Amino acid sequence: MNQKPAMLFVCLGNICRSPLAEAAFRKAAEEAGLEAEADSAGTAAYHVGEPPDPRSIETAARAGIDISDYLGRQIVRDDFTRFTHILALDHANLRDIRSIAPVGALAQVSLLMDMVPGREGAAVADPYYGGEENFTETWEDVSRAARALVERLLAERS
Ligand code: 4NP
Repeated sequence: MNQKPAMLFVCLGNICRSPLAEAAFRKAAEEAGLEAEADSAGTAAYHVGEPPDPRSIETAARAGIDISDYLGRQIVRDDFTRFTHILALDHANLRDIRSIAPVGALAQVSLLMDMVPGREGAAVADPYYGGEENFTETWEDVSRAARALVERLLAERS
């Protein structure tokens, strides 16, 4: 791949799941020595300009990552040319992303868990109405997917 990989992780609100996916990917890429860009966005505009949910900030902090300065934003059409990959956290997100994809979009759009062998077609469950254990489960899912995604990008590069 000539262009530096650039990942956009997309959920509904961009305050719970996709900031954690972005953080997990940044960590996995750094550990693997992969140079890549990462960002996250929501399909909805509910939380534009807001920091992540305090429960996501706490979950990332437990893994040693500070995401308190991330700010929510909504996906825009330019993202389909800025990013090489757009990863949807669930099926509704995937459908909404595809519905706004401009003609000639560069980015490969897929479900995040499709990266994990044996978890293809799975959604990362929305922890918004859940408790701490749901956020821990989200972190485990996005961390596995991030490591698998990094492996895939490294394999594509060589
Ligand atoms: P996220 O979770 O999509 O993982 O950020 C949600 C955040 C906010 C809402 C729903 C889900 N909400 O309805 O405001």
